[in-house]
Amino acid sequence: MLRSALLLVVFGVLLVSAQSDKITVCLEDDNDLRVDCLIKPKPNQIDSYEFSWASGNKEVLINTNVSGSSADNQFKEKSYVEELKPHGYRMTLKGFTDTLPHNTTYLCKISGSGASENVEKNKLVPCSAVSVLLRTSWSWILCVILFFYHTRN
Ligand SMILES: *[C@@H]1O[C@H](CO)[C@@H](O)[C@H](O)[C@H]1NC(C)=O
Ligand SMILES: *[C@@H]1O[C@H](CO)[C@@H](O)[C@H](O)[C@H]1NC(C)=O
Repeated sequence: MLRSALLLVVFGVLLVSAQSDKITVCLEDDNDLRVDCLIKPKPNQIDSYEFSWASGNKEVLINTNVSGSSADNQFKEKSYVEELKPHGYRMTLKGFTDTLPHNTTYLCKISGSGASENVEKNKLVPCSAVSVLLRTSWSWILCVILFFYHTRN
């Protein structure tokens, strides 16, 4: 009984940690920086996105389509944004990977709701590794469910 309860807690924690991943930062094969923003837009709000980063206390806008605001000049023509299914946006930035500050906070906003993640330059992971990681956590969840049912029966 205690063991099942423990497993349920582990299962819950895994689920929650898998769901709170609203922003992921990784490096593409060609060394471009990729930021995925997976915030669910609130209904009845203007659909918009905003990507920025901060280092120290300086925040600069990389790409946005919020009317009235515009990206910092250094990022013009360097980044593009595409829509992700079922919701969210992916921003790709070319040419800044080598000159990133050591400690950078990546921020994104969708329709006003924001998420951020602090990533050190030498801890940036290849995007291919991120998807492996996601797959791994899903197989973990499956294992736990199977084990849970197994111990109950
Ligand atoms: C921002 O871009 C998205 C996707 O292209 C679009 O649906 C949305 O209407 C745009 N928002 C604004 C404020 O232009
Ligand atoms: C990186 O910056 C963030 C936000 O400014 C700070 O909270 C964090 O401690 C810093 N990390 C390192 C290793 O300097």
